[in-house]
Amino acid sequence: MLAMETNIQIAIDGPAGSGKSTIAKAIASQLQLTHIDTGAMYRAVTLEAMERGIDLSNSAAYDFLASIQVRFTNNKIYLNEVDVTTKIHRPEVSERVSTVAAHKVVRDYMVQIQQQAAAEGRIIMDGRDIGTIVLPNAFIKIFLSASVEERARRRLTDYHAQGIDMNIQTLIDDINKRDHIDSTRNINPLRKADDAVLFDTTNTSIEESVTQLIELIRQRGKEHGYQL
Ligand code: DC
Repeated sequence: MLAMETNIQIAIDGPAGSGKSTIAKAIASQLQLTHIDTGAMYRAVTLEAMERGIDLSNSAAYDFLASIQVRFTNNKIYLNEVDVTTKIHRPEVSERVSTVAAHKVVRDYMVQIQQQAAAEGRIIMDGRDIGTIVLPNAFIKIFLSASVEERARRRLTDYHAQGIDMNIQTLIDDINKRDHIDSTRNINPLRKADDAVLFDTTNTSIEESVTQLIELIRQRGKEHGYQL
């Protein structure tokens, strides 16, 4: 068997609905990498904060972070070892997660556990600040984009699959609002890293995007002597 490098890092960033998690998951499966969905981690913290009934806008109310456990493994997110994968995608969590993710105390905690998780092996991590803050030394950084209308359509399909009724205009408004909060917050805003490759998925299917990105990752990996 060929020896595998112990630490390979791929960073994928982009706004809500750009296809990050789906694409990262498919790439992980084809290249035998561990996928870490950091958006799911912020959502899990939001769920915990909501269940505790804290004032989400008050930074001081997040002192519970030290006593909880958030773990993303095998496409599932665990909060204190309970699988909350379905719960974290409910609309009431989506509406609040940007507020929670804007707090420095929350981001510091998250970046720390994400970097620890990344140190463990061959990983592909998706989020908003992966190429800029969490994995600045990733050998390849990809920034995904897509039109707001297309991103809202994808979210609508996701909600319908969960049996949740939703209106397209509500989703467009929600995505615009989240994009604004995520890209204008003071700490670690959503931003393309200077050395990231920009890839637009508006008119490209997930399968085609995955195929093209894997080709790019393999090419770049070769230059680093990685077997991918
Ligand atoms: O990718 P997503 O929609 O599941 O992300 C949920 C929210 O989490 C998003 O509005 C912004 C925040 N987030 C973040 O601030 N930093 C990350 N690395 C990942 C997500």
